[in-house]
Amino acid sequence: MQTHEIRRRFLDHFVRAGHTEVPSASLILNDPNLLFVNAGMVQFVPYFLGQQTPPFARATSVQKCVRTLDIENVGITTRHNTFFQMAGNFSFGDYFKRDAIKHAWSLLTSSVEDGGYGFDPERLWATAYLDDDEAIDIWKEVAGLPDERIQKRGMADNYWSMGIPGPCGPCSEIYYDRGPEYGKEGGPEADEDRYIEIWNLVFMQNERGLGTSKDNYEILGPLPKQNIDTGMGVERVAFLLQGVDNVYETDLVRPVITKAEELTGRAYGVNQEDNVRFRVIADHARTAAMLIADGVNPGNDGRGYVLRRLLRRIVRSVKLLGADQPTIGELMRVVRDEMSPSYPELATDFQRIENVAVGEETAFRKTLTSGSKLFEGAADTVKAKGGKVIGGSEAFTLHDTYGFPIDLTLEMAAEAGLSVDEDGFRSLMAEQRKRAKDDAQARKHAHADLSVYKELVDRGPTEFTGFAELATEAHVLALISGGVRVPTAGKGEKVDVILDRSPLYAESGGQIGDRGVITAAGLRLHVDDVQKIAKKLWVHKVTVEEGQVTEGDVVLAQVDANWRHGSTQGHSGTHMVHAALRQVLGPNAVQAGSLNKPGYLRFDFNWQGGLSEAARNDIESVTNDAVGADFPVNTFVTDVTKAKQMGALALFGENYGDEVRVVEIGGPFSMELCGGTHVAHSSQIGPVTILGESSVGSGVRRVEAFVGLDSYKYLAKERALLAGVASSLKVPSDEVPARIEQLVERLRVAEKELEKTKAAAVLSSAGTFVDKSERVGAVRLVAAQAPEGVSGNDLRTLALDIRGRFGSDPAVVVLLGNADGKVPFVVATNKGAQDAGIKAGDLVSSFGPSIAGRGGGKADMAQGSGTDPAGIAPGLAALRSRVAEVVGS
Ligand code: SER
Repeated sequence: MQTHEIRRRFLDHFVRAGHTEVPSASLILNDPNLLFVNAGMVQFVPYFLGQQTPPFARATSVQKCVRTLDIENVGITTRHNTFFQMAGNFSFGDYFKRDAIKHAWSLLTSSVEDGGYGFDPERLWATAYLDDDEAIDIWKEVAGLPDERIQKRGMADNYWSMGIPGPCGPCSEIYYDRGPEYGKEGGPEADEDRYIEIWNLVFMQNERGLGTSKDNYEILGPLPKQNIDTGMGVERVAFLLQGVDNVYETDLVRPVITKAEELTGRAYGVNQEDNVRFRVIADHARTAAMLIADGVNPGNDGRGYVLRRLLRRIVRSVKLLGADQPTIGELMRVVRDEMSPSYPELATDFQRIENVAVGEETAFRKTLTSGSKLFEGAADTVKAKGGKVIGGSEAFTLHDTYGFPIDLTLEMAAEAGLSVDEDGFRSLMAEQRKRAKDDAQARKHAHADLSVYKELVDRGPTEFTGFAELATEAHVLALISGGVRVPTAGKGEKVDVILDRSPLYAESGGQIGDRGVITAAGLRLHVDDVQKIAKKLWVHKVTVEEGQVTEGDVVLAQVDANWRHGSTQGHSGTHMVHAALRQVLGPNAVQAGSLNKPGYLRFDFNWQGGLSEAARNDIESVTNDAVGADFPVNTFVTDVTKAKQMGALALFGENYGDEVRVVEIGGPFSMELCGGTHVAHSSQIGPVTILGESSVGSGVRRVEAFVGLDSYKYLAKERALLAGVASSLKVPSDEVPARIEQLVERLRVAEKELEKTKAAAVLSSAGTFVDKSERVGAVRLVAAQAPEGVSGNDLRTLALDIRGRFGSDPAVVVLLGNADGKVPFVVATNKGAQDAGIKAGDLVSSFGPSIAGRGGGKADMAQGSGTDPAGIAPGLAALRSRVAEVVGS
């Protein structure tokens, strides 16, 4: 049975049983505790906890999930996928254990003709939590399972939670026995490779608190209702129903392996080492595509790091399989073809997905070979010394210079039977990070202890009034200083202020926080920044300028109107540049990040290679035309599905049913999801001047621009510069280019003339050297210092000219120059001198040591250079003695 069919049957089965079909949530939800969505129940947590009333009592979904904790096991075991699909049915206080077991059993064991999966009931086993005799009885009654195929297991296996505070409960798992050829008898307790877990039924009834492990946490008490949360591993059911050996060989994944075989020229199934590499490629390619589709970009921490690691593991595995060419694009295409029937975004967004993946591949391929060499060198050195540990600094260089994620280095070390000094690596990383982030960290919460805010976050979101007004009366809910609550703060102190409502915009969506003041009688706080915690709590970072602020105060929070005016220009300008970029470069220029503040914006986007000057100019002119068109700016709130239908951009991380705010400028010209503040008409943005375009990492480009008055100021400065140049050149501004061209040409001609004159002067000095020549026996010797600054070809030409002037008289010419602290030299002899036994090359050893010189040549000519001008006189003296010695005078 094909995977798409397995999904379909699951949903149909539960829809028939009164469940509402809910689409998969994005892999990225707004929960800072969760890197990726890793279970079907995640989007329903508020329903379980009783925080929100569910719109349905029963739901069913097939959720995309990513779990990367076991990444090292990928390809080695039969069942570890980093991306997988979890099919689930959920009851929110409706049915409980009995019906959950009934529904699961009937789907698994109904015949294929009747819409089920047709599993042989004799091969199914169940487990239950230690004290859950109720579940065991139901298994016997409903499914007719005998005692010996039901096992009791402890908390680690049969009590489920998300690993963090939230809903939890005992669970009951269903296993399929693959048969004796896959391992020993004895049920899941004995062998989880023979007995494969396919479905987990969680009886969600309690709330858990903090804890240290899977089986050690506090149970806070019962949930408001008894619920059901189940999760069936679609890939596992697929591999069992398709009669293959593991999750990598199912209908949706195996084609990627086939493509990798084609690209590398190696065959799958020949040896275990290669098998693992093929499976890593197939598994990771799929996960990477799904992550990029949901808006993750490769990066150095958090989600971006996971994606980077997956992509780089693919690149390395391909290389180890012997392929030298880029392959990611083709692998991604196979993923798209296989997966898009269930996930159409893979097809509609493919160009962007491919761009991101190929960008990362290109970057890593550049350094993989040299980095691998460095690693091998380091490993050899360690081994030669009998050591076992690769140094932290090597790991750091591999990371910093060659882009090897530390986990890759760890894996390579493990393959070589070594380990890595991780502490050393981490402390070097920490030092580097500290240097880079000292500044930014000072104003943000990125690494602060957030527990102090928890109670405030739970209390509810800060009401943002700033779309409608710039001043709002508010209550001071809390003051936080140095990570702890304080009752009050006085003049000169810096403190975080939490208000119940605020007109000040908190940094998000690329727009930095508003500046302003918070006042009351005798009280004035300057707002230095506004940040958001958990996406909903506004934290005003203030300096107390006057008076004393106390929890409970009633205050007036006011936005600095000038600031706001500038920041709306910056933010609307960013949307305009984005729209213009897509118009000029096409829809593949997808946003990868942005930052805007009064007067300035920068916009990062996925793109290979630099932008031509013409493209840059086009983007600037399309932007300014759209500004000039005075488009109206509309903002409205709608749901994700409608926004998608309208073609709004930046829909990542939104959940089914979420309301989103759309900002539309000039109808189809620009439409984005955005929570920022904007101008009312595009002409209010003012002129937009693009400053430049640069690379910020693999496959990501950045444009920067000034907007509004800052744009004018920048242009005025440029104009003043040009006026200064024009006045120095004494021409009108528009003649500056022609004038400079003329001057450059004149300079070139003059330099050439100068060269010629210099050469003529050098040569004209030849006669003087002849006049000053000495006689040593029958030989005429010129041993002299050349005129200052003469070197290279000039020195050689001069020596040859002097030699020529002696005609057939035996002659030796030795010239030592002195140019920039170096001592170039030339030795030339004519036939007569050579007949007298003097060889140019041999003479070098007489004066060479004095000038710290090196060089040599043949009998007629030798050349070289020394570095010690102080040795010129003694060198020449030694030379004279040598010549005298040779000619015997
Ligand atoms: N939440 C449970 C799991 O992830 C069942 O859906 O296994």
